Amino acid sequence: MSKIGPFPLNTFVQGDCIDLLQMLPANSVDLIFADPPYNLQLNGELYRPNFTRVDAVDDTWDKFESTQAYDKFCRAWLSECRRVLKTNGSIWVIGTYHNIFRVGAIMQDLDFWLLNDVVWVKTNPMPNFKGTRFNNAHETLIWATRSKDSLYTFHYRSMKTANDDLQMRSDWLIPICTGSERIRVNGEKAHSTQKPEALLQRVILSTSNPGDVVLDPFSGSGTTAAVAKRLGRNFIAFERDAFYIRIAHERLKTIEPLDHSLLVYKMENRKPRVSFGNLVEKGYIATGEPLFSRDGKQVAIVLADASLEHDGITGSIHKISAAIQKKDTGNGWLFWYVKRNDETICIDQLRHQYEAAYLEPAIVQEEAERSNEQSPEEKRPAS
Ligand SMILES: C[S@@+](CC[C@H](N)C(=O)[O-])C[C@H]1O[C@@H](n2cnc3c(N)ncnc32)[C@H](O)[C@@H]1O
Repeated sequence: MSKIGPFPLNTFVQGDCIDLLQMLPANSVDLIFADPPYNLQLNGELYRPNFTRVDAVDDTWDKFESTQAYDKFCRAWLSECRRVLKTNGSIWVIGTYHNIFRVGAIMQDLDFWLLNDVVWVKTNPMPNFKGTRFNNAHETLIWATRSKDSLYTFHYRSMKTANDDLQMRSDWLIPICTGSERIRVNGEKAHSTQKPEALLQRVILSTSNPGDVVLDPFSGSGTTAAVAKRLGRNFIAFERDAFYIRIAHERLKTIEPLDHSLLVYKMENRKPRVSFGNLVEKGYIATGEPLFSRDGKQVAIVLADASLEHDGITGSIHKISAAIQKKDTGNGWLFWYVKRNDETICIDQLRHQYEAAYLEPAIVQEEAERSNEQSPEEKRPAS
């Protein structure tokens, strides 16, 4: 597929996103990331204590006549997003306290099924210059599917691995976009609300696959497109302002897609580890049983604690295999054999038998538990 509706894939299209969304076929997009106007309603300039002007979001694109006008606008683009989203696709919408509650309510009214609200904790937020409120140090992302029954993509294990083997939580600590990542034109920020690529990286990696179509209806400086391109996804990006489209175009020229081999989700298929002790506990290998080297010349006895005894030394299957081979390390799984019905088989084979018997159902079980044992918030109906 090289086109989506009338638009070639991997392009920025200038125009009002509601009009452009209407031109997309239903059920055609895998993932949507939307960073709509916040409707901040800033009145007047904001100054720091030293009287320098704060670079706040006061762009015309953020101005709406009334709250009702903003709601009407959100209802229109969100309805279209729901129509173009594939049955099993998902959508992320980011916002601040100014708009996210309104957006969330409208999403629920439109029958989106909310999966999480993720808090992007800004590790280096702008201070509250007036000192009249708490430092506003986060934005909220709503992650939702088209409906309750959507079989959405979620790379749970990969996220867990990225989080040092702990379940990825819904509070994401990520710095705001600064330094060389911030696009500047004549020394000025090119876009007042350029999002950090790290944020989009987590969204796209966790909830889409290489080759998927990612849509951004409010593309701005092109952050979603940039990350999608790098991660081997297709994108389609809408933006009303021609200046931002130009910036995004230039930005994309500098992005090199990663090699396909680096984008494979190997963690999702990885089986949990089986230890030699597991085999002994479950009787795949008996305590007191001899293990043999492949040529049968070396023999070790399995002790009750799953260590091996060989020639007066004891240790793990790996340690003893290394000692016999006079190496620093050894892979005992491939070194040791057992006799079964006149056959000599490698203990690695027994490990696979154990995995098939106990761990594959366990993965399924774990997934089932994940979907049943949700937090009270997740259990509550979405609308
Ligand atoms: C919050 S910014 C998005 C910033 C973007 N995520 C980035 O990282 O640069 C919202 C963008 O939506 C654009 N916009 C506002 N209303 C629009 C509309 N009706 N259709 C298309 N784009 C619109 C604005 O010009 C602005 O660039």
